Amino acid sequence: SWTMLNIVEEAVEAVRRQVGDGRAICALSGGVDSAVAAAIVQKAIGDRLTCVFVDHGLLRKGEAEQVERDFVAATGVKLRVVDASERFLKALAGVVDPEEKRKIIGREFIRVFEDEQRAIVADGPADFLVQGTLYPDVVESGGGTGTANIKSHHNVGGLPDDLRFQLVEPLRALFKDEVRRAGEQLGLPPAMVWRQPFPGPGLGIRIIGEVTAERLDVLREADAIAREELSRAGLDRDIWQCPVVLLADVRSVGVQGDGRTYGHPVVLRPVTSEDAMTADWARVPYDVLSRISTRITNEVREINRVVVDVTSKPPGTIEWE
Ligand code: XMP
Repeated sequence: SWTMLNIVEEAVEAVRRQVGDGRAICALSGGVDSAVAAAIVQKAIGDRLTCVFVDHGLLRKGEAEQVERDFVAATGVKLRVVDASERFLKALAGVVDPEEKRKIIGREFIRVFEDEQRAIVADGPADFLVQGTLYPDVVESGGGTGTANIKSHHNVGGLPDDLRFQLVEPLRALFKDEVRRAGEQLGLPPAMVWRQPFPGPGLGIRIIGEVTAERLDVLREADAIAREELSRAGLDRDIWQCPVVLLADVRSVGVQGDGRTYGHPVVLRPVTSEDAMTADWARVPYDVLSRISTRITNEVREINRVVVDVTSKPPGTIEWE
C-alpha cells in the first residue's frame, strides 16, 4: 500500500542520513526482524553494508538456505556465511541443562560474530551495527519473543573496546505486523516474512537431553513434516507456533514395518497466543494431527511415537526448555 511504501522509504532515508558514507555490519538470524532491517539498510547504503550469518547448525530444515540463497537473491546484500555448527556441537557436548545450553549458545554466537566483525573491520572501518529492534522491544525490553540472540548481549556498553559501534535500528518505530508488511514490500522470501517465532538457541533447546548431530537431523526431519502439514492445512496464521520437541533420552517400544522398534517420541506443542506471555494449546483438527503422526513415524525411522502437549501457559512454558 501507499502508506507501507512510505514507511519503507522513510526508514531508508533515515538510515541514509544516519550512516552517511559510513559502513555497517548486520547479523542475520534467519528471522524476519533482522532480515527486514538488513534489507532496509541495504537499500540505503548498498555494498557498504556487510551481513553476517552465523550458522550455528541449530536452525530448522531449509532455513540456512533461505538466508544464504533466497534472501541474498531478493536483496543483493553482501553476505558472509560462517558455518560454525561443529564449534557449537563441540561446545554443547555433554550438556543437558537448559540454561547452560542457552548460555553456551549465546556465548559461542558472540565469539564467532565478534571474530567476523574484526575481519570485516580489518577490511575497512565500520562504525555501525544494524539491529532489528522493534517498538515493543523498545518499550518493554526483556520480552523473549523472537528476539535474536545477539540482542540481549550486544548492548553497546557490553562490547569490547575495538568493537564499539553506533546502533542503527530501522524498525524501532514498527510493530511486528508492520515489519512483515515492510518485508513483503521489500520482496523478501515469504517463508522468512511469515516465519513464526523461533528461539535464538534454536533446536538446541528442543532436544531434551544432549544435543548431537544425529539428534538434530532426526528433529529437523520431524519438524519439517509437522510444519509442512500445518501449512498445508492452512493453519499457519491460526497457530502462534508449534515447537516439535525430541525426547532424546526417552525410548519406548513400537512396531514399525515388520519389526519391533525401540525408538524415541516427539512432542507436538502447537499453541495459540497474542504475545507469548500466555498461551493456550491449539485445538488442531484430529485429521491434521493424524497425518503428522503417520508421516513422522513412517518417514523418520528413529521416531515411533508422536504425542501432543495439551498444557496451557502458565503453567507450561511454550518451549520445553
Ligand atoms: P517460553 O518457552 O518462555 O517462550 O514460553 C516464549 C517465547 O519466547 C521464545 N523463546 C526464546 N526466544 N531466545 C529467543 O530468542 C530464547 O532463549 C527463547 N526461549 C524461548 C519461544 O519460542 C516463545 O515464542
